[in-house]
Amino acid sequence: MPSPPEAKPPARLRILLRTARPQSDEWRTALAQALPDADIAVWPDVPFAPDYVVAWRPSTEFFNRVASPKAIFNLGAGVEALLRLPNLPPDVPVIRLEDAGMAQQMAQYVTLAVLAAHRQRNAYAAAQREGRWAPLPPGPSAQFAVGLLGLGVLGRACADALRRLGYPLLGWSREPKQVPGVESFAGMDALPQLLSRSRVLVCLLPATPHTIDLLDATRLALLPRGAHVVNVSRGDLVVDHALIALLDAGHLAGATLDVFRTEPLPPAHPFWHHPRIAVTPHISATTQVADAVAQVAAKIRLLERGQAVTGAVDRALGY
Ligand code: NAP
Ligand code: GLV
Repeated sequence: MPSPPEAKPPARLRILLRTARPQSDEWRTALAQALPDADIAVWPDVPFAPDYVVAWRPSTEFFNRVASPKAIFNLGAGVEALLRLPNLPPDVPVIRLEDAGMAQQMAQYVTLAVLAAHRQRNAYAAAQREGRWAPLPPGPSAQFAVGLLGLGVLGRACADALRRLGYPLLGWSREPKQVPGVESFAGMDALPQLLSRSRVLVCLLPATPHTIDLLDATRLALLPRGAHVVNVSRGDLVVDHALIALLDAGHLAGATLDVFRTEPLPPAHPFWHHPRIAVTPHISATTQVADAVAQVAAKIRLLERGQAVTGAVDRALGY
């Protein structure tokens, strides 16, 4: 009797990974453990046409050399760098990270900045340098409204943390939202009202054609005198010279900036040495390898079974 034909082993998945260079090994190992049925190549090696691309800020050269995959996973929440690529394959789903360990970090960073503004950390640091005993009773948190631009995954995590500290919260999004403890403002017409009431303004919007330069001189001037600005989204949402002018004029009391138009922030940039600006190097919420890989691997498995996944980017909206 002829022996039955040997069953063909299932085809292995092919994944192309592109991360910040020094971390490639860690990502590759984690992805290989999460998806043992996959072959994983690390850019700039492109030994196959990948089923999936898993990448952070690939260059134009990347998609000149890589054929259209089934989906592109963005190793971060913000997708603007990917969407700006002129040769990003059309009609391929782009899937971003949702939280993946970033929401808690962002809530911590924003809470620290809001508390520092409310409890006047800058004023006490100055008083200590001068050896001055100068109590400045803080107003009640119930009178210290925080405006959150963006009520997505990260904005809602910040709202949750700040609500527990008793701050009134005003949240801005494209569509109206119901978030516990947050007064919802939606659309451009509602923005001036939110700005005029925000003692601290936290920017957690994606960078899209609708949000670039959003915080210009006119809108920043709508903030109450003595307000603080916290930008943790992208640098090009805030007009740098407008922010500095309003700080220098005494209209704004301070700014906490984690993101910049050019990163690293150039050494000669005035933000570095401004007495009322706190600068951090884009670390408010960093991508966590284990969380990100677990999320991406779970979504690849769903896609392979023909199931839908969350986190798909709307290219027309830009986020
Ligand atoms: P997300 O879940 O997509 O939320 C985006 C929010 O922005 C949504 O509430 C959305 O409104 C709102 N929005 C978008 N365009 C708008 C517009 N034109 N007018 C009003 N609201 C608008 O994003 P996420 O995960 O929270 O991340 C937000 C951003 O944080 C990322 O895009 C990235 O730039 C930045 N980020 C920074 C760091 C860091 O370390 N500094 C880390 C991670 C992320 P709807 O709810 O109505 O759609
Ligand atoms: C970081 O900035 C991100 O978008 O994940």
